This record gives sequence, structure tokens and C-alpha cells, in this order.
Amino acid sequence: MTTRVQIFDTTLRDGEQSPGASLNVEEKLEIARQLERLGVDVIEAGFPISSPGDFLAVQSISRLIKNCTVCGLTRAVPKDIDSAAEALKDAVRPRIHTGLGVSDSHLQHKLKLTREAAMERGVTAVKHARKYVEDVEYFLEDSGRADRDYLCQVIEAVINAGATVINIPDTTGYTTPEEYGALIGYVMNRVPNIDRAIVSVHCHNDLGMAVANALAGVRNGARQIECTVNGIGERAGNTSLEEVVMAMRVRRDIYDCETGINTQELYKTSRMVSNATGILVQPNKAIVGANAFAHSSGIHQDGVLKERTTYEIIDPRDVGILESKIILSARSGRHALQHRLAELGYTFSEEQVDKVYTRFLEVADRKKEVYDEDLEKIAADETSSVRHTYELAHVQVSCGEKLVPTATVCVRDASGRELIDSCHGTGPVDAVYRAINRIVAVENELIEFSIQAVTEGIDALAEVTVRIRRGGDIYTGRASHTDIVVASGRAYMHALNKLIDRTTPALEHPTLEHV
Ligand code: KIV
Ligand code: ZN
Repeated sequence: MTTRVQIFDTTLRDGEQSPGASLNVEEKLEIARQLERLGVDVIEAGFPISSPGDFLAVQSISRLIKNCTVCGLTRAVPKDIDSAAEALKDAVRPRIHTGLGVSDSHLQHKLKLTREAAMERGVTAVKHARKYVEDVEYFLEDSGRADRDYLCQVIEAVINAGATVINIPDTTGYTTPEEYGALIGYVMNRVPNIDRAIVSVHCHNDLGMAVANALAGVRNGARQIECTVNGIGERAGNTSLEEVVMAMRVRRDIYDCETGINTQELYKTSRMVSNATGILVQPNKAIVGANAFAHSSGIHQDGVLKERTTYEIIDPRDVGILESKIILSARSGRHALQHRLAELGYTFSEEQVDKVYTRFLEVADRKKEVYDEDLEKIAADETSSVRHTYELAHVQVSCGEKLVPTATVCVRDASGRELIDSCHGTGPVDAVYRAINRIVAVENELIEFSIQAVTEGIDALAEVTVRIRRGGDIYTGRASHTDIVVASGRAYMHALNKLIDRTTPALEHPTLEHV
């Protein structure tokens, strides 16, 4: 039978211990509400004695949350426990989480206690906490480096004193999955009264093994996982909630466990915690990173478009992400481009696709990623019904503070002939327009020129709009390119083509003869 594993979220306590992550009470309440929607079993809301703000947060969360256990952390000292009991008193299901170091390093250097005295203090703390609440969790700090037999003695004693949950933290993130799994197995086999408590894993990520260690603990009998959203926490952080939950779900064949988590809330929760704490999620972070469902290489894109599961083991909708992302870049093939264009409402003939793909590669060579706005511009250029009597083949400019702006342009006519001319001007765009005029020789007046960035960043596509007048008629030309001079030249060419299209029958443009 599939085993139920409890998810104990400590984002608001251990997670908030991340450097620079401090949250105010309102932010904690909002996150707690989201954790309840996410379906965690326990919310560790704070460390009430540590500050008035933490006390208030635990108290407010205790009053707000109805469907999760609300937990407050304490040291194994009566005044901490009294404070936690007071903060938790309105919770529907309160839990006091108390405990003490258990490794010789912590006993000698930090607590200056003998093993016996520490055990005694732990037992007294549990008994004191049980006067207030029925649910008492006991943590044995630095279990990962503790003497195993002493660890088992303390566990047995605190369970006899009334502890309902036993937390075995790898506080320093020192253990490996094999070691940590074996430690949990040892406790399960050696502590005679262990069946009277739930064993909990609490792993730190100093060696990048927190998730693997927690899962190894579960394989060996742990039934509660302590974790944080986005894996935030002291130093390198804690077990990441989204990773451990999805690992158990995707690999149920291995773990045979389930949780009460509504996985579709995972992404939203991750965003909320990242926004509130200011701790960014690395793009390649499993499950919730920006690239977790993004496909960049042409081969992968082709595979995913044919069948998602070729390169995806998780349906992004299962974690609350609407769809996989096909990153259009210079590595993308025609299939991915056509697919995205079709999604944007453009269907092209094979011949048009060739042209659009060439334009796409031009843009992609200049930018890391080609966005929908870029594609729309490219597609709009291609779908324009104007007869392209002339095409701007190349533009080259030299300009600068001490130079006379000069442009050389190469214009291709409808028969494929290339016509080259140069001119100087008041600036690079003026020089380009004058050079084009020398080739095309169509009388017109430039009445408007505007430029704007249509995509984000320094490598944005610039969209240029020009209006030219001849007689009483006005012709508008538009073009986009990452190079504003090229965009300007193409926009002008676009307007000229419209003018020629309207005023001259096909193949009868006189200037073709005279250049
Ligand atoms: O890492 C740890 O040992 C802890 C305890 C306070 C539970 O966070
Ligand atoms: Zn911790």
C-alpha cells in the first residue's frame, strides 16, 4: 500500500534564516495562506521567543490557518516553550518543536553539557511542552555527525517523555544519501519505542544532497520531510519542497509514497516566496526554474513538438506552469519556427517559410532569443501585399563625432540586379536615404520618421516607421531590425515600394533603365 508522507514546511522559519530573506508579518501571512492552498501538513511559522515580530507572526498564522498543523520552534528551555505555547494557543492544530544538540561537537563546544545532562534537559523540555500541547516534535540537532547509540538513547527517552515526532536533522549537510538513509534505518531498528512517533528528516544542502538525503530517509522509514519552498534556508539551504514532492510523484515506482500536496500550486508558491524574500530562483532549478520546461536545441524542439514526453518527464501543467517553452534561437529549426508562427496565427507557403526562416536566422544571429514580437514583425513584413520592386540588400555606414556620415547601399531590383551607390548626409540614416534616392530616383518628401524598441533589452528589435509624401498621397513604411540603420533603410524602402506600386505599372519603372 502506498505510504503517506507528511510535508513539514519550514520556509517561514529555517527558510527565513537565509541571509537577507527577512519577511514582515503580512508577507508571512500571505505565504502561510498559499502553503495551506498547496496542501502542506505542517507550517513551521517561526521561533516565537526570538523576537516580537516572530511571536506575532506565529500568533497571526495560528489564528488564520485551519487546515494545517501550525508549529513554533523553541530551544529546550522553559521560557521558549512558554512563549511558543502562548503564540500557538489559537491554532486548530498546534505543535511545539523543541530540541537540543546531540553531536559531541555541539555538546562540548556550544552547549557545554555532558551527554547525560543534555538528555535530561531534552526530557524535561518535552514534558514541559506536553503540558501545553499534545503534539510535540523533538529535534536532535547535528544528528548527522552524532554518535548513533547516544542518538538512539535520547530518542527513546524523549518518546517516553511524550514526543510525538522525532526530527533527525543533518544540520550541517555533511552526510551522503547512503549514510543518512542508513542512519534513519538504524534508528528505526534500534529504538524500541520508535513506533510511537513519526520520524522526520531535516536535511541541509551544503553538499547539494539535501533532496537525495531526505528521499533516502523516506526509503528507510521516515514519514515526515522538512523542507522549504525553493530550497531556501541557512547557508546552502534546505531540502527543496517542490523537488522532493515531484521526485516522489514522478518516481512512485521507487518511493511508493504520496503526499497531500496539490502540485499545481507549486509554481505559484515558488514565485510568491521568491518575490517576498527577494531570493531569485536560479534559471536551471529543477521544477520551478525558468528553464525547467524550456527547450533550446533544434533536435529537442523537434522531438517535443512531435511528442512532449520525448524530452519531458513532467507535464508542466502538473506543477502549475501553463506550457513548455520553445526558446527560438539560432539553434531552432524550421519546425519550431513554423509551429510558433502558427500559434501566432500565421500560415505560410513553403516558399514563404524559406524567406521567413532566413529573416528569422538573421535576427537570431544578433539576439540570444527571438521573441513573439520579433516574429510578428518578421511575419508582418512577409505578409505585406505590396509588390517589392526594390529590396535593400546591404547597408554600410561610417559615422561618428569626427566623421562625415557616409552610407553605401546595395539595392536589388525585381529582376535580381544589384545597384550600388554611396552618399553622405547629416547623419547615418540621412546618408542611407540619400544613397537610396540616388539609386531609386523617385521623387518624394520624407514627412515623418519614428523609431521605437519593440522587444526588451539592449539587443531589442527596433521598429522604424516612415511616412513619405508625393503629391497629395502619403505612403507609410515600416521595418524592424536589431540594427536601427538597417531598420531605417528597410522602412524607407517599404514606403518607396508602396509609392511605386501605386503609381507605376509592374516592370515599367523608368528608373530601372536609368541607373
Ligand atoms: O538544521 C537544524 O538542525 C534545525 C533545527 C533547529 C531543527 O534547523
Ligand atoms: Zn535546519
